[in-house]
Amino acid sequence: MEVIITPSPEEGALSAARILDHVVRAKPAAVLGLATGSTPLGLYRELIRRHKEEGLDFSGITTFNLDEYVGLEASHPASYHRFMHENLFAEINVAPERIHLPDGMAADVNAFSREYEKKIRAAGGIDLQILGIGNDGHIGFNEPSSSLASRTRLKTLTQVTIEANKRFFNNIDEVPRHVITMGVGTIMEARICLLLAFGEKKAEAVRAMVEGPVTANCPASVLQLHPRVVVIADEAAAASLARADYYRYVFAAKPEWQKETTFLPALLEE
Ligand code: F6R
Repeated sequence: MEVIITPSPEEGALSAARILDHVVRAKPAAVLGLATGSTPLGLYRELIRRHKEEGLDFSGITTFNLDEYVGLEASHPASYHRFMHENLFAEINVAPERIHLPDGMAADVNAFSREYEKKIRAAGGIDLQILGIGNDGHIGFNEPSSSLASRTRLKTLTQVTIEANKRFFNNIDEVPRHVITMGVGTIMEARICLLLAFGEKKAEAVRAMVEGPVTANCPASVLQLHPRVVVIADEAAAASLARADYYRYVFAAKPEWQKETTFLPALLEE
């Protein structure tokens, strides 16, 4: 696991955008796994800027989002379909037919989930998966106690997550209790994982993920078993890391050319 500590969320978003920029330029047909929530917003804003001002071209990419609320139409103001459209897709030149999100209105969630997994495989697998982390250590919506081998499926949100996400709804009762999410096993098959964490509320989850034991009590901790993970945390989210100085030292000692391309060769080998 490579841990990059940035002075602010803004710097973290820029670091993540530079990594994505390298990936998309090196592999124009890259398959990107995308996340919603507050964390990737700065990253998406910077990707849009690079598209508009620097010609970063998304016309060849394919995208798969991690999750969606069950029972919300794509047009619902709090749906992840709407979030992605407003915060990224409408502003870049991604081909609409290569955008994939779980369908929160699927009549048969199990059949839909199997199909979603098949589509990821048919696309060649996810090259780079963007992740946030829940205050309770979830990735995607794989809440504590999720199987570390799980695949795309229905999950029930914890009270911690319902509480954290109520800000996107009129009141807490409107927050759906169920979601469709890629599984931990699905995420673990991405060639590169890029996890972003900003703010003090994430500090304990980040510590458990990076330095705690690998346990389903903190599903993000399984990323310790993944060969290519970059964690970008701001100072507040990194505040509980015992080895923070070591991570800073390792990153500072890297040659400049390698700082944003550590795992890129893995995408170009195949
Ligand atoms: C969103 C997702 C979640 C969020 C996490 C953090 O697609 O999969 O795991 O990344 O809940 O949310 P924010 O970024 O709003 O703090």
